Amino acid sequence: HTKEMNEKDLASLKVNQNRLMEDIHFTSKWGTGQVWGTAPTETGMSRLSLSDADKKARDWFVETTQALGCNTTIDEMGNIFAIRPGLRNDGPPTFVGSHLDTQPTGGRYDGILGVTAGVEMLKVLADYWVETEYPVGVVNWTNEEGARFPISMLSSGVWSGHIPLSTAHALREVHPGTATLSSELSRIGYLGTVPASYEAVPMAAHFELHIEQGPLLESTSRKIGIVKGVQAYRWYTVNVTGQDCHTGTTDFENRADALLAAAKMILHSHRLATKRGALASTGILNLKPGSTNTVPGSVSLSLDIRAPADSTVDMLEADILADFARIAAGEEVDGISEGCTPGRPCEVSFTTDSVSPAVKFHPDCIHAVTEAAASALGPEAEKLTMEMVSGAGHDSVYTSKRVPTSMIFVPCRDGISHNPREYTSPEDCAVGAQVLLQAVVRYDRM
Ligand code: GLV
Ligand code: MN
Ligand code: MN
Ligand code: MN
Repeated sequence: HTKEMNEKDLASLKVNQNRLMEDIHFTSKWGTGQVWGTAPTETGMSRLSLSDADKKARDWFVETTQALGCNTTIDEMGNIFAIRPGLRNDGPPTFVGSHLDTQPTGGRYDGILGVTAGVEMLKVLADYWVETEYPVGVVNWTNEEGARFPISMLSSGVWSGHIPLSTAHALREVHPGTATLSSELSRIGYLGTVPASYEAVPMAAHFELHIEQGPLLESTSRKIGIVKGVQAYRWYTVNVTGQDCHTGTTDFENRADALLAAAKMILHSHRLATKRGALASTGILNLKPGSTNTVPGSVSLSLDIRAPADSTVDMLEADILADFARIAAGEEVDGISEGCTPGRPCEVSFTTDSVSPAVKFHPDCIHAVTEAAASALGPEAEKLTMEMVSGAGHDSVYTSKRVPTSMIFVPCRDGISHNPREYTSPEDCAVGAQVLLQAVVRYDRM
């Protein structure tokens, strides 16, 4: 019973590092390195959302949490909520959440650490016969990555009421583009009946442990990032239309080369973002017809822009809309005149695929994490922690719009993520899981 536990009793609750690492590596057998031609590696992981491998990892999550005394709720987005009853159940659970899906060339820690650390928390509570005041839960959010179905943090976004269920269900997979999210949910047996909403599955709070996915903690020898918020980002699809023509017979002046225009747009977005202290990236590029001897007349590219302040993202978006139109019209931009000419322009159009404004996490949750870090790290805590803003999006972005939320970061080697080389040491994973556990039991008493 946590209310009756003093500081010493609370601090004596300890995660089991080996058990946590076993769960991480055991569940990584449900994945493949074969997707999109990548080779399997020792640390890598490819488990696209709602794939057969994801189904197996989900089944493991359901079975394991039920064996630990949890009740399972599966909603219409396939989000899986495992809830461990408290002493009193007239208030909502405090949740730990993250995701079991990965990037096509992902690692074993992004998302997976957060879910397995939640399972480890349940195991510790069971080992020590702890009864929390209110229920506690662990949630596996569907399609956080946005890699297979191209909206990131999709299902926490539906749960929070920011993304319509119909939009989410109709999403088509990026590659090869036949299945929809709802058809895949049905196929693997995870289309639940409970509405995907805060009202149907309320929470008291949401805590998420995640690898930093950047270099700051490692380079400053810190163990724990106390995450105070998340930077803003927006995703677009940019369609550029020129004209297909013969590569051997068409002079440069007579081409409307959609790929050359797109190449200039990508370079220019990089320069515009640099000027504003922001980021701009293209990760998907499709061109048609895709023939060596035909100048491509049609190109679509993804564009992801990010900055800590919403106002910076607004200004960058305005720059990009105006300047891409100038590039398509054949104007000289960035001193590059090659490509479309005013006589042979391309057309450019944009769709906004997802919008994630800057987020500030809740002071009570940040406080719980700070106290938890002090408990886990002892007298060195101040030296070993730092406050930071997340560069990446996480499900906590959407939970924060409904319930008090915050995050805990642990270092990752060379700051690399979305790459099979992604790696966090067992010790660092365990320290993060310990802070997570301590934050939850402290929040439950608050
Ligand atoms: C989502 O997780 C992102 O940061 O792209
Ligand atoms: Mn993640
Ligand atoms: Mn990710
Ligand atoms: Mn993410």
